Amino acid sequence: MATQVFAHGLGEAYKRKEDARFIRGQGNYVDDVQLPGMLYGDIVRSPYGHALIKNIDISEAMKVPGVVAVITGKDLDAAGLAWMPTLSADTEAVLALDRVHYQMQEVAFVVATSRYAAADGAAAVGVDYEPLPVVVDPKKALAPDAPLLRPDKKDKQPTNQIYHWETGEREATDAAFAEAAANGVVVRQEMYIPRIHPAPIETCGCVADFHKATGKLTVWMTSQAPHAHRTLFAIVAGLPEHRIRIISPDVGGGFGNKVPIYPGYVCAVVASITTGKPVKWIEDRTENLCSTGFARDYHIKAEIASEKDGTVKALRVYTLADHGAFDAAAQPTKFPAGLFHICTGSYDFKNAFVEVDAVHTNKAPGGIAYRCSFRVTEASYLIERMMDTLAYEVGKDPAQLRFQNFIKPEAFPYRSALNWTYDSGNYEAALQLAMKNVDYEGLRREQAEKRARGELMGIGISSFTEIVGAGPGKHFDIAGIEMFDSCEIRVHPTGKALARIGVQTQGQGHETTFAQIIAAELGMSPDDIDVEHGDTDTAPYGLGTYASRSTPVAGAATAIAARKVRDKAKKIAAYLLEVGEEDLEWEPGRFYVKGSPGKGKTIQELAFAAYTNCPPYLEPGLEAVNYYDPPNLTYPFGSYICVVDIDRGTGQVHVRRFMAVDDCGTIINPMIVEGQIHGGLTQGLAPALYEELSYDEDGNVLGSNFQDYLIPTAVETPHWETDKTVTPSPHHPIGAKGIGESSTVGAPQAIVNAVVDALAHVGVRHIDIPITPWKVWSVLKEKGLTSD
Ligand code: CDP
Repeated sequence: MATQVFAHGLGEAYKRKEDARFIRGQGNYVDDVQLPGMLYGDIVRSPYGHALIKNIDISEAMKVPGVVAVITGKDLDAAGLAWMPTLSADTEAVLALDRVHYQMQEVAFVVATSRYAAADGAAAVGVDYEPLPVVVDPKKALAPDAPLLRPDKKDKQPTNQIYHWETGEREATDAAFAEAAANGVVVRQEMYIPRIHPAPIETCGCVADFHKATGKLTVWMTSQAPHAHRTLFAIVAGLPEHRIRIISPDVGGGFGNKVPIYPGYVCAVVASITTGKPVKWIEDRTENLCSTGFARDYHIKAEIASEKDGTVKALRVYTLADHGAFDAAAQPTKFPAGLFHICTGSYDFKNAFVEVDAVHTNKAPGGIAYRCSFRVTEASYLIERMMDTLAYEVGKDPAQLRFQNFIKPEAFPYRSALNWTYDSGNYEAALQLAMKNVDYEGLRREQAEKRARGELMGIGISSFTEIVGAGPGKHFDIAGIEMFDSCEIRVHPTGKALARIGVQTQGQGHETTFAQIIAAELGMSPDDIDVEHGDTDTAPYGLGTYASRSTPVAGAATAIAARKVRDKAKKIAAYLLEVGEEDLEWEPGRFYVKGSPGKGKTIQELAFAAYTNCPPYLEPGLEAVNYYDPPNLTYPFGSYICVVDIDRGTGQVHVRRFMAVDDCGTIINPMIVEGQIHGGLTQGLAPALYEELSYDEDGNVLGSNFQDYLIPTAVETPHWETDKTVTPSPHHPIGAKGIGESSTVGAPQAIVNAVVDALAHVGVRHIDIPITPWKVWSVLKEKGLTSD
């Protein structure tokens, strides 16, 4: 029996346990699942952005060798499954019945003995469409003469407007603007945050296996929220929940894309129930980009009222949100625009008012939180852009204006004008460190010299505040299920442990960091702790991994479950050492008698005793479970500084330096945190300079493949420089805040601010993302700055 004491806990760059299988190519993804007699599905999709379906002819498809069945909307309708609820209380067609609402919408599901036969069968399905007028512009969708895009909802929703939502104090904010218009400064800016896509390396898919004899449905699924999906399957399909098992094995990136339930999953389940065989459905890259959850697509008008010296007073924001054909936005029910109203950011606004109108268009549904906490990316982008706009207006350096308006360290916990309570922060320290690291003053001198020579160099700052770790459950839910999370720990007799958590890793390294949390609490080696997740038959119920909620919520549950284990171990130690519990001291891995350090019991000895020599007044065994409902979210933050050079001949933006100072409270594993920041920064660079999922007037998707949808590769990615400050969360058991998405949230505006800064002296105040060479060159041309 091992009796060694280890203390490899928090703060150690412990190598990722999961990488042993990943680097050997021995991960287990959904597409690796092979079952005897398995069939394959493929989806017939609409080529039109908007059309009526006059007829579907499956006769030729059924003649294709290997084709077993073709399922249409009518078949699903007969089973009451043609429509499914979305995460935003809309209903979405599983397979279109009489109308398609966007290009690539699901029309029929072909089941065959091979993936190729299924594709041949799908090509042979004849669909007779009658094209209808297409609306891809949300402003046009609100016009009085716009065609009604969702006639199925006309009783409840007579126009294309889905909702109007507002928050904050309208009158007080308007009054502050009137005062600033008379005696201070008002700045305004319109900006568009385009539709983008998370584009994980692994696309979405599942293997559905319905066992007719037992009535048990097992679904291997690319799911970021297996338990929530199990409950939704039970509600939608009317299957008993204890007979549904969702297994989310290794997931090749989620980024929010794998939170919603997609029609392909439902079709595979129906096909398995119908055929009595397992059915695999894996979408291809184009299907992923064109039909599964998009992100952003916000048209924003923002205004700041300030005093003449730039001291901010009020923020007013109007947003038009394009939700596509079905409102499938993944948001907590109470917040239709997610956490967009964190848009006062790191600054001490006394008043704010935010309005959001959401509309339907003929685009794919979604509105998912792509590596962000429910619209915080949009919020952070707008406020950081606006602070620069204000800085130029009042003639101050953007850094100086930020210092002037930051929420002060002593003001935490801080109640924002839009009713968020920030847990902790020190924004000045983060920006000071970033400025010192890049020699900000030196950069400004260099910029002035270059400007004098006609060269274009810009410095952009983003001092963002994040909001991650939903619940509390009373305010945050997904489809009605409260957003808590969980951990269950079993310590085996020989002192090794198994932990099961309610969140689901998609590459973030939970098998390592959650083991480190337990290791820190119990003084064991993380090597002695296995972490499992993603199987609803074994893991405790949890709401899943998105919006950087794993560490703030399940991480807290893990620390508390470990403390429960330690509490029981203490009782056993008191019994074995024949002292009272109050006479015991804890050091990592061991209880000893106060004043007699030699007289003690290690956690391994106590685990063995729990099964072999347990006190008669205790239950045997050493296990604990915790369901954690957080009292508040956590508010990580950071200050990023980007330096760009602009080529006057081509309009090309070159990111020369990028310094990211992040603060996620107590750090569990600095190497994993750095990896999260590097990946997130690249996913922040992407929308700033490259990515956009646009549509032409006919509703054709223009970013349907990686030739047209430009995700940055290593070639485009600059060298990231990182640093940190540490401001623990006061309410989290180990003081940790989330980090998974901070850099995706914070990076785009640092880059845009740098580009605008390079051109601010000629009056440029904004360029919409993605900042392509063409857009920059057009501005240079207009300002007479192009070179040959
Ligand atoms: O929910 P998700 O895992 O995407 O985000 P997260 O909770 O921010 O965690 C991302 C990864 O960074 C996980 O492996 C965390 O345990 C780790 N992390 C850390 O080591 N220290 C922190 N303070 C926060 C996260």
